[in-house]
Amino acid sequence: MKKEFLNLGKQPIANGFLCEKEIKNEFFFDLKVGFDKETKLVTQMEYVDPSLMFNENYAYRGSMSITMKEHFKFFTKYLQGILPQFPFYKRNPKVLEIGSNDGVFIKNWDYKYTFAVEPCQNFTEETNNMGYKTYASFWDDHLSDLILKEEGPMDLIFAANCICHIPNLDETFRAIKNLLSDDGVFIFEDPSLSEMINNNSYDQIYDEHPHIFSIIALKNILERNGLTIIEVNNTTVHGGSNRIWVQKTKDVKKIDVSVEDNLQHERILGLDKFETFERFAVRVSQSKEDLIRILKQCKEEGKKVISYGATSKSTTIFNYCGIDKELISYITDTTPEKQEKLCPGMHIPIISPQKGFNETVDYAYLGAWNFINEIKHKEKEFLQRGGKFITHVPIVKFI
Ligand code: TMP
Repeated sequence: MKKEFLNLGKQPIANGFLCEKEIKNEFFFDLKVGFDKETKLVTQMEYVDPSLMFNENYAYRGSMSITMKEHFKFFTKYLQGILPQFPFYKRNPKVLEIGSNDGVFIKNWDYKYTFAVEPCQNFTEETNNMGYKTYASFWDDHLSDLILKEEGPMDLIFAANCICHIPNLDETFRAIKNLLSDDGVFIFEDPSLSEMINNNSYDQIYDEHPHIFSIIALKNILERNGLTIIEVNNTTVHGGSNRIWVQKTKDVKKIDVSVEDNLQHERILGLDKFETFERFAVRVSQSKEDLIRILKQCKEEGKKVISYGATSKSTTIFNYCGIDKELISYITDTTPEKQEKLCPGMHIPIISPQKGFNETVDYAYLGAWNFINEIKHKEKEFLQRGGKFITHVPIVKFI
């Protein structure tokens, strides 16, 4: 039973960047978030049909950020270093990535034993051309059976920023258990609920994230599907994520202390209680007021404010706060697919940084606040000449 604690209003498809003539057909839905009393899962009250988001027009590219490329390269190096410790290593392990996007993770692995699943056909084509057999489909029981039949069990199943995109978690985990070899490992990374609560980063919530995971909720849902968490790593990517290592319950030999440490930390934060999220909703509403006030003040002072990074997160912010091109002149983004389009819902124009990030800009709202270090490093000149970034994380402020 889900109980609502937050209403983020009418929202469009977060990555649905569009042109003028598409505005009249733009899709909107009510973004309401609730708490499932049984599993303790934070989840949307109603889910958007995945085919409206993940199709051949999908605009988000993992490879657009140096941080993400380095993150996956570094993790692959670590993983390949420890693979010999796993019993399956002796038999030429098979690797599968679910949600391979533009290949930012798999390109570090050999195509001879690495397989991929990706429903967005623009990317399926790319990774197939790179030599990786890529299944152009959503992850479900049917696909799991098909891969099992064609390739046999997988020893390592990886998914980054993908599992929290899938509405039906019971089917997702059941299908993973079906395809995983008995001594295999399933590793997945997704934004962390405790970090979202600590950072007041409510913009983690948008159509593509039907759930924001706590370890408490994941443990409940994985266990009822015959899977056990054996380790948890806290990472800094995407504003604070968790990497969760999972094995089939009947084959677990050892559980790392990080699992209980994380559960304990989350219990202290109250992530197993509805009241925690009611208090969060009050802070979200305050954040909205503060952001509007600061942007209006900039306008009154005649300052030019733009937004840095046309992110899915900023779709939530702009639509919830009603921020349009009166307050933000335009957005700059490095992704070619987003440039010369309008942002979803509020229709602020998006241009390349070469065109728009210049000396006329006084302030830049950090749509991509999760890449703050990379951006501060890149934009030293802007900061040196007195330019400032604006963020809402963890409170609304200038940087
Ligand atoms: P994300 O926060 O959903 O990962 O999206 C990040 C977006 O920000 C992506 O479209 C690329 C863009 N971006 C820039 O435009 N400049 C940058 O320096 C970085 C790091 C990202």
